[in-house]
Amino acid sequence: KQQRVWVSRPLFPEVLATLAQHVDLCVETKESKRTPEQLHAKLADVDGAIVGLSDRIDAAAIAGHHRLRAVANLGVGYNNLDLAALTAAGIIATNTPDVLTQTTADYAWALLLAAARRVSSAERWLRAGRWRGGMRFDDWLGVDVHGKTLGILGMGRIGQAVARRASGFDMRVIYHNRSRLPEAVERDCRATWVDKTALLQQADHLVLVLPYGAQSHHAIGAAELDMMKRTAVLVNIARGGIVDDAALAVALRDGRLAAAGLDVFEGEPAVNPALRELDNAVLSPHIASASADTRRAMAQLAADNLLAALGFGPQAGHPPSWLNPEARGRACR
Ligand code: GLV
Ligand code: GLV
Repeated sequence: KQQRVWVSRPLFPEVLATLAQHVDLCVETKESKRTPEQLHAKLADVDGAIVGLSDRIDAAAIAGHHRLRAVANLGVGYNNLDLAALTAAGIIATNTPDVLTQTTADYAWALLLAAARRVSSAERWLRAGRWRGGMRFDDWLGVDVHGKTLGILGMGRIGQAVARRASGFDMRVIYHNRSRLPEAVERDCRATWVDKTALLQQADHLVLVLPYGAQSHHAIGAAELDMMKRTAVLVNIARGGIVDDAALAVALRDGRLAAAGLDVFEGEPAVNPALRELDNAVLSPHIASASADTRRAMAQLAADNLLAALGFGPQAGHPPSWLNPEARGRACR
């Protein structure tokens, strides 16, 4: 085998096996936030890499690495990749769209329902041995989900899949997106476009599914939280940094919002200690796509993308989810 590939975290053995048929592998035993220097060293002398959100692949990470030809991201969001720098260097970049859409949409509902109905805090209370009778009829009151207005900020594939699920809960769906969806799609999702202010003011519950970037940094901060209903649940399955976590903690603490369901955090794996203190926040470690079938499909898609980028298999030269087709790829050494 002529080519070498670095894999930044353990993957499913059967997926690694498909890679190992074609390339030499260096697989890390655990995911970790490496320093820029460590990452630069890992990318030396490899032809390709499979990376994830904790790996920031920018100009510094690839500087001087003339052998590197392809980077396959494990995830649909790719704000960890500096696409301009990769494209300028002729390095192919790929992500894992579509395979995780339905599973991730399911999880938005898991968080919405858990936060609205206080599932996590009730379980903590039960496990602590505090269910000893004498419970009041008006204990553990949550807020309803069914029949309410669901707001969705960011209406890509995942946002649309979240919207479709709302029919079963008899909800009205409003959304905001920079570009309005075609009418046929809106009809199919039973969703109505509104401006961002109307979305914040009218949504009984709000789900965030927009990509992270300079334009969406702190899209939900103190001012936006102030516009929301006090009975609202906020769900973030998108990216840390879209919500100002410190402002959210204050709003939740002061009862300016009923609850939040959060799968992503600013600076994760660190989680704002103020959020961890709150009983009305349901918190999970960035697992919205983590069903057995979907994580396996994501890993396989990343592997297929990388192998195609490196010139192997039926899709050689045409990775299925190519983010920068303008990067023609570097000549094979
Ligand atoms: C996960 O966060 C993803 O972007 O797929
Ligand atoms: C990307 O964020 C998507 O919605 O698929």
